[in-house]
Amino acid sequence: MSKTTKGAGSGKPAEVMQRHEQRRITLTLNGRARSGHCEPRELLSDFLRHELGATGTHVGCEHGVCGACTVRVDGVAARSCLMLAVQAEHRSIDTVEGLAPAGQLGDLQDAFRRHHALQCGFCTAGILMSCADYLERVPEPSEAQVRDMLSGHLCRCTGYTPIVAAVLDVAAGRARARAADHDATRLEACDA
Ligand code: FES
Ligand code: FES
Repeated sequence: MSKTTKGAGSGKPAEVMQRHEQRRITLTLNGRARSGHCEPRELLSDFLRHELGATGTHVGCEHGVCGACTVRVDGVAARSCLMLAVQAEHRSIDTVEGLAPAGQLGDLQDAFRRHHALQCGFCTAGILMSCADYLERVPEPSEAQVRDMLSGHLCRCTGYTPIVAAVLDVAAGRARARAADHDATRLEACDA
């Protein structure tokens, strides 16, 4: 049962959840409204996996070190093991399942496949989510920038080189697509 107490310093009442109290959380998962129940102490990573069935998100260290649990929260890459499920209420969460919504691999996933950028795959979902965020913010990174971004992830299998190659390949492919779109738009403007 919830009880009400004074909020720290505010003089206003604040709701306090009991340790084993279940709370219903509603959020947007990969573009779809979802809801489920969690305890106040439950990690977002566990809520996604066990309550919402989004098992593509992996859990390694649970200390914010390995990066395996990385998801996007309102578009920004974040460790889901460092966030409580209750903090995700009414927010938009993207997981690796959202990269292939129609059952087709997204360009990042396809590049990882072509470059053999995964072996056991335990780290892969988190790395993909960081890359998805990063390439939106830095569309044409250098190799050094990609390696710096990947420093937030631990991969015991690949040695990182094929991952770097895959990310740079995607960045180059997207740059070519943007240039082709730009040229097509200019041609249409000339024809008009
Ligand atoms: S499980 Fe979250 S960073 Fe390792
Ligand atoms: S592919 Fe095995 S830990 Fe990265």
